Amino acid sequence: MPEEPLYPGKDWQDRLIGWYNQDHRDLPWRRTRDPYRIWVSEIMLQQTRVEAVIGYYRRFMEDFPDVESLAEAPLDRVLKDWEGLGYYSRARNLHKAARQIVDMGGFPETYEEIRSLSGIGDYTAGAVWSIAYNRPAAAVDGNVLRVISRLYAYGEDILEPTARRQITGWVTEHIPPGTSYEEGPCAYTQALMELGAMVCVPKNPRCEKCPLKGDCRALAEGVVKTLPVRKKQKAQKMISRYIALIERKQPGSGRRETLMHRRDEKGLLGGLWEYPGVDASSPEEMRQAFSKEWGLEIRPVGFLFETEHVFTHRHWKMQVYEALPEKEPPDSDRWCWADVDRQAEMMIPTAFRKIQEYLAEPEQLRLV
Ligand code: ADE
Repeated sequence: MPEEPLYPGKDWQDRLIGWYNQDHRDLPWRRTRDPYRIWVSEIMLQQTRVEAVIGYYRRFMEDFPDVESLAEAPLDRVLKDWEGLGYYSRARNLHKAARQIVDMGGFPETYEEIRSLSGIGDYTAGAVWSIAYNRPAAAVDGNVLRVISRLYAYGEDILEPTARRQITGWVTEHIPPGTSYEEGPCAYTQALMELGAMVCVPKNPRCEKCPLKGDCRALAEGVVKTLPVRKKQKAQKMISRYIALIERKQPGSGRRETLMHRRDEKGLLGGLWEYPGVDASSPEEMRQAFSKEWGLEIRPVGFLFETEHVFTHRHWKMQVYEALPEKEPPDSDRWCWADVDRQAEMMIPTAFRKIQEYLAEPEQLRLV
């Protein structure tokens, strides 16, 4: 009697690595084994598409070619390079970890030390350890969860920790022992990512092109489209924000300047510059909140426009008002007056792009 086919076949990693070595994208961080450069790429690639990262990565490497230059740079310069990539705590952690690395005397060479750095979790530690050092560790991100849940026709909710453990277990079992970068953990980790990015994509996977099509249990059972299982995430919370554009004429030049506020280091958009705003539902509530939160007395004088921004877990609906300062802003480094040229140099998150563009438009007629 013919034997039942085995899904996935025992040595699927060999077929995967063979495919990767024949056909993979030439990406800037694949031309190096420098752990610093691989670490930076992995941080940038979290939650961010490869095409969006490439330009940022090149610029970052020009500005901060090694861990010492990153550690020595002021945080603002690092954040400036990051502007537009989003999830800015990544940049702050990168900077902090660079200082930790310099204090350690160089890039750490054990998994535990890498894992101990700021902003490095299991995924990034596994990626750096396997890709830069060719040492055995699993690096399980969203792509890998998808690939493996299909390969094993695993129908549990992949957002559950037990599912992650199960999938990490399968990935770990198949880490090849090869001591060369082309046959070992380095190729294996990247091959899994590459398959997830190029073939085993979320919608319309290219199963006919897949090196694991003879291994894939989901394909054999006709359930590829239903996997991975992901229970519905909570809807984003809608938040009503009131933003005050507070302007003055610069005492000397008469140039128009806007009052900017640096957000608290902790929390959403931590440490970045914003046009000051508060959670509120009317201009009067905004006025009171400015006074209470910051001791800043303002008088809203006119509604300008509405703009919105969607974050991962919240959705800001922003009412932008023109406002006059009733007294000088607090004398602290959290506040500054900036003309449009200075604003262009500041680290202002994308959420405020429409406001920044509005202010930069010279023919706009405005009060004051
Ligand atoms: N996604 C996460 N890490 C990656 C890498 N090293 N190459 C391509 N895509 C990735």
